Amino acid sequence: MISGQKENNGATLLYEQVALEISGLIEQGTFRAGDRVPSIRQLSHRFDVSINTVMQAYAQLEDQRLIEARPQSGYYVRSRVPEIREPVPQPRASIVPATVTISDLCQQVMRNMTKSELLPLGRVIPSPENLPIDKLNRIMASELRRCGEQAVLYHMPPGYAKLRVQIAKRAIMAGISASPDEVLITSGCVEAVLLALRATCRAGDTIAVESPFYFNFLQMIAELGLKALEIPSTPQEGISIEALRYAIEQNKISACLVISNFGNPLGSLMPEGRKRELVELLSRHEIPLIEDDIYGDLVFGNERPGTAKSFDTKGLVIYCSSFSKTIAPGYRVGWAIAGRFQPEMERLKMMMNISTASPTQIAMAEFLATGGYDHHLRTIRRIHARNLSQMADAIVRYFPSGTRMTRPAGGFILWVEMPFGTDAIQLYHRALECGISIVPGPLFSLTNKYGNHIRLSAARWDEKIEHGVKTLGELAHELLPQ
Ligand SMILES: Cc1ncc(COP(=O)(O)O)c(C=O)c1O
Repeated sequence: MISGQKENNGATLLYEQVALEISGLIEQGTFRAGDRVPSIRQLSHRFDVSINTVMQAYAQLEDQRLIEARPQSGYYVRSRVPEIREPVPQPRASIVPATVTISDLCQQVMRNMTKSELLPLGRVIPSPENLPIDKLNRIMASELRRCGEQAVLYHMPPGYAKLRVQIAKRAIMAGISASPDEVLITSGCVEAVLLALRATCRAGDTIAVESPFYFNFLQMIAELGLKALEIPSTPQEGISIEALRYAIEQNKISACLVISNFGNPLGSLMPEGRKRELVELLSRHEIPLIEDDIYGDLVFGNERPGTAKSFDTKGLVIYCSSFSKTIAPGYRVGWAIAGRFQPEMERLKMMMNISTASPTQIAMAEFLATGGYDHHLRTIRRIHARNLSQMADAIVRYFPSGTRMTRPAGGFILWVEMPFGTDAIQLYHRALECGISIVPGPLFSLTNKYGNHIRLSAARWDEKIEHGVKTLGELAHELLPQ
């Protein structure tokens, strides 16, 4: 029987008593951050209660954010990292469009991300050892032999038919019913978003984006002569629908661009209800939504999150994604499911670069059909969940107190907020001198925000990376305002 059952004040139900017992053990330090707690079966046996009771208890502990489930692996004690939860404060008056200025720093940061001599703490692609390189190479070689001329000819937009079939099949898991003809193959997700922006906006138009937001898209918006309207976003809810509603009342907005699942950099996951509200709000005003779902397959739980596209009844949502975060960034295989904008995006794609390279489309189609993508996904999800947890713990250990960070439920990005006044750009430069690349927060906004934030990647975790985090922490201590 459960120890101390009588004294468990307030916990009347059996599952509450089980939950109290385990939370007590966590409190006392018997189980520490990162430890696996007993399996449901073990606990049911040990406490002589039903499996259901233990499952309810674990659900309660998950709600209390004391433990977390890891796919295929069991339940683990969550690390007690100071979490960023509340919205980034943004006075209403500041919701005005800003003209983007292209920063040299952006280019420098992007170049540094790929330099092999730098520790890649800023690079948000999976670590090569976690990519199915051998399998892809084998598939590519045999497909090229098998396909003959098909591999060297153009596959005009919408792209290689077998690949579109595979993508349409998988789209169901994201709540999207699409025929292969509704899928447009692009050269990565970035091209899908670029085509979507060109199909929906003209120079001088205003586009609503999340804040903080992936800096490459901010650059792209600038290149197209668009204005960006930054709408606050939170890790828990994604873009603020309330602020967006207000912004729509005050401005003429031509499109809205969001990263709906495990966004970059916040790792935000928009709850399904918020995705629905977003689509309803925008479609009432006939505003197209460009949805980037590049991280959606990287959820830590078993169930892949849905998409805003799944609530689209008017063909107003342009869904964009790619295999860059899961299979092969260098293959440059992405796609769009673009609703009413599909014909225009196909036309633009043909005009800009005729077609996406054929060999990688062919190999990707075969990998999706036979390469064990789901198995691969389960493996990398598990690795990323563990890496993020270890990196968060290391940040707590090495960074100045008062540092907070996000706790994403998928992907591998951490957004770290250092004590107010710590200069992230100085930290970026000092880190480079120590052989470490990171991405400083100010790149994720056009309006001088996030000066004390950095984006880190937990795609890899080993001694070198831990040492890198330690060095960053020491530098952050040195940069603390006096
Ligand atoms: C949100 C988001 N979209 C798109 C991309 C790039 O996608 P791709 O390499 O498929 O063009 C990235 C890469 O960091 C990203 O974070």
